[in-house]
Amino acid sequence: MRILVLNDNTPGKGFLNDWGWSVLAEGKSRFIFDADTKREILLHNSKVLGLSLQNLDFAVLSHWHYDHYGGFPIVGELNPGIPLYAPPGNGTMVRQWGLRVREVAKAGDLEAGVWTSGPLNGFEQAIGVETPSGLVVIVGCSHPGVDGLTKAVLEVSGYGKAHLVIGGFHYPSARTLDRLSELTEFIAPAHCSGEDAKAYVRRKYPEKFIGVRTGSVLEI
Ligand SMILES: [Fe+2]
Ligand SMILES: [Fe+2]
Repeated sequence: MRILVLNDNTPGKGFLNDWGWSVLAEGKSRFIFDADTKREILLHNSKVLGLSLQNLDFAVLSHWHYDHYGGFPIVGELNPGIPLYAPPGNGTMVRQWGLRVREVAKAGDLEAGVWTSGPLNGFEQAIGVETPSGLVVIVGCSHPGVDGLTKAVLEVSGYGKAHLVIGGFHYPSARTLDRLSELTEFIAPAHCSGEDAKAYVRRKYPEKFIGVRTGSVLEI
């Protein structure tokens, strides 16, 4: 399986960049998780990565914040009618994007080998994806806490531990990161994790730390 970082807050050489988050996953299925802020960034960066934004099987929105959904119009334009798994929110907007809204109300499976935590605190979901190396947990901003989201994904998927947790951790405390380290083999703090959190994981758990930025490609 491959995870391609279409945009992260940290710039990558040759890529466009802003404050946002979007990854493309290619494994059993091909899908986009969050869609950054605008089409120009998704189109430019996917081109540099040699990727097509067409032929997606489905899309996932972690939560209704603009830095995660601004680019969905181009996803709908290139993949009309594919499902968008999103927490309850703006279904009208999803239809305007040309996507089929699939409101996620609780923990469960979304597609073969893909599970959702369900919306924690009523508004943000994380997902788990089955890969040959184990379960990869993808998070958006982690407003409800990256440890809680990861735990919920492990529970619903039946895995004891994650292989990797990647995404925005929302300026977590050291305690949150310590708890997270017990739940996963590898940790890739991105987006709104903050430099302090990245430095903490790099220093305390060097064997777990994976640095990612806009344009990073992870082979799993
Ligand atoms: Fe965010
Ligand atoms: Fe957010």
